[in-house]
Amino acid sequence: MKDLLTTADLSTADTGEVLRLAQCYAADPDHEPMLLHNRLVALHFTKPSTRTRVSTEAAVLRLGGSPTMLTGTDLQLGRGETIEDTARVLSSYAAAIIVRTSSDEDLTRFARAATVPVINALTDGHHPLQSLTDLLTLRQVFGDLDGRRIAYLGAGNNVAASLAQAAALCGVDITLATPAAYPPDPTAIATARRIAATTGSTVDWTDDPETAARGASAVYTDVWVSMGDPAEQAAARRAALTPYQVDETVLAAAAPDAVFLHCLPAHRGQEVTAEVIDGPRSVVFQQAANRQPVAQTVLTALLGGKLHGQRRDR
Ligand code: CP
Ligand code: NVA
Repeated sequence: MKDLLTTADLSTADTGEVLRLAQCYAADPDHEPMLLHNRLVALHFTKPSTRTRVSTEAAVLRLGGSPTMLTGTDLQLGRGETIEDTARVLSSYAAAIIVRTSSDEDLTRFARAATVPVINALTDGHHPLQSLTDLLTLRQVFGDLDGRRIAYLGAGNNVAASLAQAAALCGVDITLATPAAYPPDPTAIATARRIAATTGSTVDWTDDPETAARGASAVYTDVWVSMGDPAEQAAARRAALTPYQVDETVLAAAAPDAVFLHCLPAHRGQEVTAEVIDGPRSVVFQQAANRQPVAQTVLTALLGGKLHGQRRDR
């Protein structure tokens, strides 16, 4: 397996290995030898980022390498150089390329032309590094994921798609509650369901937030307006998503030991109340901190040939 473009690129065995190694890196950031000693890792981000950018840069430094950030305007891509030429050239300098961009198709073209690992740092369709972090956090909190169910309330976006795939790979049930107008991507959910059929878990969708939250071990939400969503539709999205806000009542319907998750950035008063995200059941800062061990793990595992992958539709 060369690249991590979607969570479903991983096999169930790969996912287990990633979570095991990430738990080691979370306990000791110097767990493995410095695989990137004197190597460059290119980050190409065309969208803003706090966590993904900085956790990845920290991960590269921990592994002995040096990160370089290349925004859309830094590269000749912005002046018409092709994705393929860019990917081939960067591959001759960098040990890996980490890309945050809008189009999944552009990312796939990038990965096909690159001769080094390409890692998806968020596209409009997927956010695999986040989803692995989410399952790592749940494993740290609960110890064992058996019999657990995640409730995702909000917009059917990139985070929801990758979370469903990661849950399925880990054999964890998930219920996504989104308005009918903003459903999760059907292809990503069909893939998650195919995986779930092999791990004995379920991937359910409803438009009823109460049904999703009832008895869940984790309640998860994300922004209502993603970076890839048209700004002119923001007001309509917020109106449709208001019934999906995670507040104390929603959390009270979940299991007594349930935790609250959010990939961040958060908007208090929109997708989550301040009482919930700043309350005792919120693990969002543990979750954010876990982005670094996951970035270290994915780099180590891809560069070290530890992942075998699974060919699937995305
Ligand atoms: N969760 C996440 O990916 O955050 P950033 O957009 O800040 O990287
Ligand atoms: N769904 C959000 C996630 C941000 C980390 C977005 O794409 O903007």
